[in-house]
Amino acid sequence: MKIVFLGHATLLIELKEHTILVDPFISGNPMVPETISIQGLKPDYILLTHAHQDHVLDVEEIAKKSDPKIISNYEIAMHFEAKGFRAHPMNHGGSRTFSFGTVKYVQAIHTSSFADGTYGGQPGGFVLNADGKTVYIAGDTALTMDMKLIPMKHTLDLAVLPIGDNFTMGIDDAVTAANFVECTKVLGYHYDTFGYIEIDHKKAKETFEKAGMELHLLAIGESMDV
Ligand code: NI
Ligand code: MN
Repeated sequence: MKIVFLGHATLLIELKEHTILVDPFISGNPMVPETISIQGLKPDYILLTHAHQDHVLDVEEIAKKSDPKIISNYEIAMHFEAKGFRAHPMNHGGSRTFSFGTVKYVQAIHTSSFADGTYGGQPGGFVLNADGKTVYIAGDTALTMDMKLIPMKHTLDLAVLPIGDNFTMGIDDAVTAANFVECTKVLGYHYDTFGYIEIDHKKAKETFEKAGMELHLLAIGESMDV
């Protein structure tokens, strides 16, 4: 499994036979270099954690081209289905096996509304199991005790956690979250995009190191193997 960081909370997950795009927000992200665009993206699936604009902005443009299946909570799935896209609705606690592997929609503490204010269901995260690897994609969330439930059923190879503070967990809570989900390998996301969520990279990495964990911070377009 290869994970390409496309800025903010956007991940391109390349599996042996499928590609999954998570929370596409590229065209509106001022941090994304000109060399990276939504043009070449033709995912088989799109996973959406919640309805906020910084997670769904590019869904329609991308979905028009490759007709991916959009997997999200019920309200978000219905929103895109009503616009003619293919969608699969889930809700918290539910697992579903797709052609690429299994996805579980798990709790996140946050909000979820579309740009026009309409209801976007309750926000969530995903536990993705594919190609023999298990990855927790937390979505936008506070630190929550529910994270402790995840290692009771899943042995994680990677935890993708928001670290930008203000709208989500910050660094210190993300260290606790990594402890809760029992995963020492963390990919940080949801930082630096806007002024409110700028972080000190060196300090962030040191904080994780002191806790015996590794924090990966990828440049936009950079990837890591899981
Ligand atoms: Ni959000
Ligand atoms: Mn967000």
